[in-house]
Amino acid sequence: MGAVVLGTGSSLPKRVLSNHDLEKLVETSDEWIVSRTGISTRCISGKGEETFQLATGAAKKAMAMAGVTADDIDLIIVATMSSHMLMPSCACFVQKELGAKKAFAYDLNAACSGFLFALDSGEKYIRVEKEKKVLVIGAETLSSRTNWDDRNTCILFGDGAGAVVLGYQDEERGVVASNLFSDGTLWNLLYMHTAPSCNPELIQPDNPGTHILMEGKEVFKYAVKAMEGAVQELLEREQITLEDIDLMIPHQANIRILKKLVSRLGVKNEKVFINVQKYGNTSAASIPIALDEANREGRLKRGDLLLVCSFGGGFTWGASLIRW
Ligand code: ACO
Repeated sequence: MGAVVLGTGSSLPKRVLSNHDLEKLVETSDEWIVSRTGISTRCISGKGEETFQLATGAAKKAMAMAGVTADDIDLIIVATMSSHMLMPSCACFVQKELGAKKAFAYDLNAACSGFLFALDSGEKYIRVEKEKKVLVIGAETLSSRTNWDDRNTCILFGDGAGAVVLGYQDEERGVVASNLFSDGTLWNLLYMHTAPSCNPELIQPDNPGTHILMEGKEVFKYAVKAMEGAVQELLEREQITLEDIDLMIPHQANIRILKKLVSRLGVKNEKVFINVQKYGNTSAASIPIALDEANREGRLKRGDLLLVCSFGGGFTWGASLIRW
């Protein structure tokens, strides 16, 4: 151990899109969306709220909490699949915006599991390099990749960013362990061809190659089974029981996936942090946004054991334990 979360931050677009707003775009209803997904509202990015700008906003808040400046940051990892350009990376834009001159920066794409994968990379870097500070960010603007004529998907996703600063402390806390997986053979159940949002004219309803495409029922089935397996295996390996867990933050995909997962694992509801009703599925940003909210609400005390888990396109999935 030793890679400790020194600060958390999040940034959400100003515009809120409600289910009633969606009723005007596609044939749907607030009742259908809430009962099938648990989502009531989501934030949609506008001018000045590109992925790198939301990521920078979240990073600044995390750095303020951690008490570090841009000069202290050695590495920036942004988990995203919706950067406004493919090159340079979103992380390089964040580095520029922050003025973090000595940092090296790169993006990591593991879809909705991106933050957990990035956290694992950041943690391993810190364990080797010790005196370093790492910004791990999850940031997405999936609204720019959404087919707003497709009621199967447009109700699910939202935009936002969350960040943590990791630093070494010679203490029995920090990221304890992770258990990460991928299965590329299942790629075609959830995928998106590329279309950087700096070219919005490419993203049209009649251009399916640029949107998120999904076999919803299959994704649901795999997501629950995969996260359950990753969590159980991790707990067993670390000889930790669910009773030892103080808070669980699952990827905020939708409420039915979360409820099924929580009931199959047998976690008490009051130990599970849920904010999917406000933000929808923000993909790689969902865990760090929830982590920041939980932290700022005082749900995490020093020494608490936090369990996080996720599932996303690829498929990619996993679970991590963090001693706060
Ligand atoms: N409003 C109203 N009706 C709708 C809507 C909508 N927005 N979308 C679909 N329907 C209709 C369908 O057309 C269908 O009608 P029919 O019976 O006349 O054919 C009916 O509702 C049922 O559709 P299903 O697709 O069977 O609905 P289901 O109960 O499976 O719910 C959902 C769909 C919510 C997408 C579900 O499959 C799901 O949660 N899947 C997981 C997907 C997910 O979370 N993906 C996120 C990315 S992966 C991740 O983050 C883990």
